[in-house]
Amino acid sequence: QEGDEVVRENMLHINGVSAEYLVNKYSTPLFVYDVNQIRENARAFVHTFESLNVDYQVAYASKAFSSIAMLQVAKQEGLSLDVVSQGELYTAIEAGFPVEKIHLHGNNKNIEELEMAIEHNIGCIVVDNFYEIDLLKKLLDQHNTEMEVLLRVTPGIEAHTHDYILTGQEDSKFGFDLSSEQADDALSQLIQSDRIHVQGVHCHIGSQIFETQGFVLATRKIYQMLKSWKEKFQFEAKVVNLGGGFGIQYTQEDEPLPLNQYVISLVETVREEASQHGLSTPEIWIEPGRSIVGEAGSTIYTIGSIKELEGIRKYVSVDGGMTDNIRPALYQAKYDAVVANKMDQPKEEIVSVAGKCCESGDMLIWDLEVPKVESGDLLAVKSTGAYGYSMANHYNRFAKPAVVFIEDGQDHLVVKRETYRDLTQSDLSYE
Ligand code: LLP
Repeated sequence: QEGDEVVRENMLHINGVSAEYLVNKYSTPLFVYDVNQIRENARAFVHTFESLNVDYQVAYASKAFSSIAMLQVAKQEGLSLDVVSQGELYTAIEAGFPVEKIHLHGNNKNIEELEMAIEHNIGCIVVDNFYEIDLLKKLLDQHNTEMEVLLRVTPGIEAHTHDYILTGQEDSKFGFDLSSEQADDALSQLIQSDRIHVQGVHCHIGSQIFETQGFVLATRKIYQMLKSWKEKFQFEAKVVNLGGGFGIQYTQEDEPLPLNQYVISLVETVREEASQHGLSTPEIWIEPGRSIVGEAGSTIYTIGSIKELEGIRKYVSVDGGMTDNIRPALYQAKYDAVVANKMDQPKEEIVSVAGKCCESGDMLIWDLEVPKVESGDLLAVKSTGAYGYSMANHYNRFAKPAVVFIEDGQDHLVVKRETYRDLTQSDLSYE
């Protein structure tokens, strides 16, 4: 430091830990989570519900990122858990997650999944279709037990990032259609069973949503239905679950609402609708995934080859790609990144970040402004905490990266880097 001039640190630090230290210790590509930030996000939801004096559950949608350590953090924060498969349920049980707070989703739950849920007596099953109702009834008879359920409906509102569309004819593989008799038929089949206890309804209108209007419209539709269910079936919902989908910031272009705003709006709308229809305020449940872990995670890569096409483009390749982050290839998702070892240098070139998979579409970021880059530099892609590791795959037989948690300046390895032996361990010889 010279005089008053602040010398900027050249190295990126994540929750006090330098990227260089992490890379030397764990190598790249590496997923790094700031656990303090995960907890802050979880608490933003929980504290807002608490302050509004309403009964609630915040169920972490574990599809966003599931690992034993992550589910233990969710447990410590008092969250409930949304699982969508036997693998996610198994992980929850391995993590010691309280079974009564686990909710099982899925549009094609199989016998093994339902049996595991029944055997562990989980909190509830979110019933999705008629096939499942029959299967569930049969299994509950066989096991001579009971189960709490929510009934998933598709309210005909689909939210796409900034905007939402109202679809007259519902077209979704999930849940019971509200615009026909489907949802009524499902409820009537469920309440006929002594073994099934319908706690309420569920809907999820989409993901990476930046406004509250879609949730308001969905809630209104649900209340029209609940009103009619009171009249037709004398049924009153104890629980209204409005799903997840709260948006996060990937790049400067994204302008999500503060997390508490979503909760305030949901609670206000449910309260208004309930009182307007002469119904009591239910427990309000939500299922945030991305908004809890997304911005808390980043991926550190090492830059390898650099290819310059004079006047056209400079390709900078990293040692991962669509195997650890398929979102750019799958959804044209945009990310921002920094050169982690050149944080103090001015940005002076525009490069495009390529993955190393044998696939032209394996591009992580187009046109990223960076300082002059060289092979060996570290690139940290931001906001990769949701649907990054959880959607990782083995294309080109890449081993999945390691995952490190950092809390209060301390790093902890929570998922080991896969080995090549891991990759071939299920292969059987044919010689
Ligand atoms: N609840 C249900 C029933 C869901 O289907 C989802 C996400 C969530 C909760 C959590 O939504 P979140 O709060 O994370 O937005 N792979 C895609 C996202 C798929 C989301 C599927 N369902 C992506 O990478 O953007």
